[in-house]
Amino acid sequence: MAKKHQVVPVPAPLVIRCSFHLLIVFLVTVLVTAAIYLTRESGRLLGYHQTMLKDRGSSSLLQCDLFSGKWVYDNKTYPLYKDQNCSFMFDDLACEKFGRKDLNYQYWRWQPHDCDLPRFNGKALLERLRGKRLVFVGDSLNRNQWVSLVCLLDSSIPPQLKSMRLKGSLYTFKATEYNASIDFYWAPLLVESNSDDPSHHRLPDRIVRINAIEKHAKHWIDADIVVFNSYLWWRLPTLKVL
Ligand SMILES: *[C@@H]1O[C@H](CO)[C@@H](O)[C@H](O)[C@H]1NC(C)=O
Ligand SMILES: *[C@@H]1O[C@H](CO)[C@@H](O)[C@H](O)[C@H]1NC(C)=O
Ligand SMILES: *[C@@H]1O[C@H](CO)[C@@H](O)[C@H](O)[C@H]1NC(C)=O
Repeated sequence: MAKKHQVVPVPAPLVIRCSFHLLIVFLVTVLVTAAIYLTRESGRLLGYHQTMLKDRGSSSLLQCDLFSGKWVYDNKTYPLYKDQNCSFMFDDLACEKFGRKDLNYQYWRWQPHDCDLPRFNGKALLERLRGKRLVFVGDSLNRNQWVSLVCLLDSSIPPQLKSMRLKGSLYTFKATEYNASIDFYWAPLLVESNSDDPSHHRLPDRIVRINAIEKHAKHWIDADIVVFNSYLWWRLPTLKVL
């Protein structure tokens, strides 16, 4: 069963509040996922895309540079989800639910110059993730990407066929019908550090064990796809390196 889950407190400056960035972040996630598939399973994907292309009567997507384009305002087909509709959205990111009025940031869509991207299709992504484990690793920026992806998929999965679990630093979202797992692992510096506690990491002095990743890596070693990020955690005047 889908359950309400605990919000992991994150340092305020690191929380990307409802903004254009959040939107970019989940679109980038979709692009990154697509890019990973392209490299990992180009053969299978080729067939998959060709099917989609035939449906769309276009032949340019495979040759298209998806990274050359622009953001276009689209209030007809966007947003792809509403924060108050998503049972897994964190309250600290659910601006509309808590009364934010200027919602234009939700309506931006990436438009490549030379082709049209297919509209996001939750069931198609789940089919691609069947039997697989996708893990986001990093800080609150990646936590946002991860929860956005979960919310994009939420409406494609009936309540009894999905679950969310938090154990230590690992969130596990499961789409049971697909045996697919979409997880988030808190490791803000990726390697071991004194900021590894998912709740208590606001420490005045940062200590990082630069050559030690095994303790964290054992949580994603069996993943099929990993999306890493680490950000301003490294931007301190001093950092004690062990
Ligand atoms: C979409 O935006 C345009 C321009 O801002 C506005 O005129 C129109 O009413 C909006 N449509 C919807 C469905 O919100
Ligand atoms: C949100 O939920 C409402 C009520 O179920 C539904 O009408 C609406 O289409 C949903 N919006 C999105 C973007 O999912
Ligand atoms: C479910 O997926 C996992 C990978 O996340 C895989 O190891 C396992 O064999 C799969 N189980 C079934 C029943 O397909």
